[in-house]
Amino acid sequence: MGGPIPRPSAEPMIVGRDAERALLSGFLDAGISTRVPAAGGTGDSGVVPAGHAGAVAAILTGPAGIGKTALWEWTLERAASLGYLVLVSRAGIAEAQLPWVGLTDLLRTAAMPVLAGLPPPQRAALRVVMLQSDVGEPVDERSVGTALWSVLSAQAQSGPVLIALDDLPYVDAASAGALRFALRRMGPGSRVRLIATARGEGSRWAPLDGLPGDQVLPVGVGPVTVGALFELLAARLAVRLARPVLLRVHETSGGNPLYALELARALDRLEIVPRPGVPLPVPTSLDGLVAERVRSLPPDVLQIAAATAAAWRFTGAGLEPGAVERAVLAGLVVVDEPEVLGGARIVRAAHPLMSAAAYAALQAAERRGLHQRLLAGTDDPLERARHAALAATGADPRIAGALDAGVVVSLAAGAPDIAVELSRLALQHTDSDAERAVRLDLLADALVRAGDSPGAVQAQRESIALTPAGSLRARRRIRLAEMATEVIGWGAAADELQVAVAEAAADPVVRSEALLTLAAVSDDIDLADASAARSPPLSRP
Ligand SMILES: Nc1ncnc2c1ncn2[C@@H]1O[C@H](COP(=O)(O)OP(=O)(O)OP(=O)(O)O)[C@@H](O)[C@H]1O
Ligand SMILES: [Mg+2]
Repeated sequence: MGGPIPRPSAEPMIVGRDAERALLSGFLDAGISTRVPAAGGTGDSGVVPAGHAGAVAAILTGPAGIGKTALWEWTLERAASLGYLVLVSRAGIAEAQLPWVGLTDLLRTAAMPVLAGLPPPQRAALRVVMLQSDVGEPVDERSVGTALWSVLSAQAQSGPVLIALDDLPYVDAASAGALRFALRRMGPGSRVRLIATARGEGSRWAPLDGLPGDQVLPVGVGPVTVGALFELLAARLAVRLARPVLLRVHETSGGNPLYALELARALDRLEIVPRPGVPLPVPTSLDGLVAERVRSLPPDVLQIAAATAAAWRFTGAGLEPGAVERAVLAGLVVVDEPEVLGGARIVRAAHPLMSAAAYAALQAAERRGLHQRLLAGTDDPLERARHAALAATGADPRIAGALDAGVVVSLAAGAPDIAVELSRLALQHTDSDAERAVRLDLLADALVRAGDSPGAVQAQRESIALTPAGSLRARRRIRLAEMATEVIGWGAAADELQVAVAEAAADPVVRSEALLTLAAVSDDIDLADASAARSPPLSRP
């Protein structure tokens, strides 16, 4: 195979995929031919094109490494050449995303006059969102969604708009909520389209789940042909495989480009020419190949790849200068330069699977060291609290305090998934039962907001179990009954409240609160009246 010169894998190029490209071209063409929506209108009063051309969103689905992002990038280039304004967001792969990162990415390319021309309340909502962690006031998805829709429809007055999201399931929950809200107002008659990628099957993903099924064009991305694979390996690795070897690589990889690229790289690393009838002398599972590639990386490059999985937003700061460039050359990361002066460059995974494997390959101490360095490289208070927690060796009350603050900020910012992650980290830094119980209450709140009621019930039960009998425990029982009647059932909620009533015997305020909740849960007006009559008089100012 001899002496290939690897090219950075981020270089845009595509081989094969003729059918998929035709489908996506049709999707884009339909977006151009529709009528301009009336200013501020819902946009779905225009001409509705026939067939799948009525789709407002296209979603590329398929397994890891099959080529969804490659096809998505091709579509973005084609859209730009057709005159679309392309608004891009690439979700990272850290477990949860900073609130509003997706939306902020998307709006970065929107024209300034459009943003400035928004009605003041909408402009205020977007300003809060785009300042990210400096959120002083809670913002809700509806007002941000309305503002987003205003921006999109204003922008569509001057030309078609394509919202482009890579790795849709990783888009932060807050942005997904606002997008869902805006997308529901976007009809086939508007000139706004969306293209996204997602691993796996299916076509119902947040934020697309608010759209009627016929407005979503699912594009399943499958194996590439033997011919396309030959071209792909030639272009990417400068290797021209003999047909028998090519067939082996195609068969083993199942036509998966990432898998085939790694297989060809591994063969090349070992300078091996596979012999007919003999099993390939390299790992033949994708995971095995990825693990082997990660093991072969120099430590500084491995750190960079791991950092793109370890940070919500990695800029390269905190790690060895020069290593980012080496990681780019190795095809592991891609650098997005800032579009505005003074903006931060973003270093992101060229391939999420590889970055996740690089992070997983670090020993516990190395992982802590990485978070320590990333901590030094970021000013964002939420990221700092998270890195500090992941860098610490033992429980640290100061770290737990910073995480508590982070939970409150992320809940106010409409990012309950972040709040859940920070809240779990805070618990790992808590020793005393009393503090654990308080943090479990907070976790339960975050889980409710994140839509995980069974998780919230579990957290609230743990909090109750850690609390000694008395009015505090009664109050926690009331919380449990209130937050999750639909999970534990009305009967169990009523039982819980009966216990709370008994447990709060010495505390009239909590007792009457328990009775009132019991009355509400059991729909008992007499009980409500009786408990109201017995409640202590409200203190007067
Ligand atoms: N048609 C193609 N032409 C050229 N290169 C391709 C093609 N399809 C995939 N590749 C290359 O194969 C590798 C994997 O593809 P890609 O990153 O698009 O996969 P993916 O489906 O997005 O995976 P994931 O689900 O992990 O994000 C990349 O290096 C990509 O550039
Ligand atoms: Mg991808």
